[in-house]
Amino acid sequence: MMRRIQNADLRNKKVLMRVDFNVAVDNKNAKEKYKIFASKATIDYILSQEGAKLALVGHLGRPTALKNCLLGNELLINHPEISIDSEFSLKQLADDAERILGIEVKFVEDCIGEKVKAAQICQYRGEVLLLENVRFYCNDEKNDQEFAKQLTENFDIFVNDAFSVCHRDQASVTGAAKLLPAYAGFWVEKEIENLEKIKNNPMAPAVAIIGGAKIETKLPLIQAFEKTYDYILVGGKIANEAIDQGLKFSNKVILPVDFAEGRMDIGPKTIEKFKEIIKTAKTIVWNGPMGKFEEEPFDMGTNEILDAVIESQAFTVIGGGETAEILEKRNLIDRVSFVSTGGGAMLEYLSGNVMPGIEVLQ
Ligand code: 3PG
Repeated sequence: MMRRIQNADLRNKKVLMRVDFNVAVDNKNAKEKYKIFASKATIDYILSQEGAKLALVGHLGRPTALKNCLLGNELLINHPEISIDSEFSLKQLADDAERILGIEVKFVEDCIGEKVKAAQICQYRGEVLLLENVRFYCNDEKNDQEFAKQLTENFDIFVNDAFSVCHRDQASVTGAAKLLPAYAGFWVEKEIENLEKIKNNPMAPAVAIIGGAKIETKLPLIQAFEKTYDYILVGGKIANEAIDQGLKFSNKVILPVDFAEGRMDIGPKTIEKFKEIIKTAKTIVWNGPMGKFEEEPFDMGTNEILDAVIESQAFTVIGGGETAEILEKRNLIDRVSFVSTGGGAMLEYLSGNVMPGIEVLQ
């Protein structure tokens, strides 16, 4: 059984909450507002508990992947010898977080140590601290014990509401959860509840639509769906990769029969074939675009399949960074039964792999 926030005594506690504000940023504006909004229910709940003080910890991009990361516990931004771009700073999302979540946010220029302590002393009721990108420390991704201690030393309770990082064994996900009483937030619970519905016993006919890139990351998912789903429609770059590599599947897996120019999108015959199958579905799960959707006219396959999914009466779950982004762009989030915030995390969960961030809460 997972420890849930409803069972925690949060009164007069200093709470550290893992969020996932790892969104595409355009001119200092968050593109995937949905992902930020996902943490609202948990934030509101914590703030409603008498005397509770809340700080949010999260990451943006992979700043340390650009460096050789030799400095372990030194803060990389503003470091005298290493320059890390402020494009990775969570500061730029503080205003957006205020607007999207309807709360007062105070940005703290570090996620450990004196700056956090000082901000907590002045923190007033209802104000939420947004800590600087935890990945400005290399030791988050290394799940360094010492770093996890520093991260948690100013807090009494840890809450993880970032389902989309639960496949990561990192200090701000699992490390902190081992050092403090730790609970799952409402969003993590909601993700699990919805993904469970489509995972093992989906209502038949069950149709999985899988696209995007990197066949090696999607193969375990295709194989998992072959056991429980009736059709697996494969588009996007992975369809090209599967064909080029001569991969063999069961007859449940439907590969494109034609492509748009340069194989940048699925072709009209494939679109029709996929749509006919989607019409029959009682369960639909979709991860990854059907083509190079960011470039017209190669967005046609993705948009046509999306229209068919939206029109369907099936229980529909859509996830994966890019797929969710398209939904948000077309204002269709509310037309889907559930939109997962997980990209890699959704793939791992549905493939049946262990999720360290969830396991540690059990
Ligand atoms: C995501 O956007 O899927 C999560 O934030 C995980 O990010 P990561 O792949 O950089 O760990």
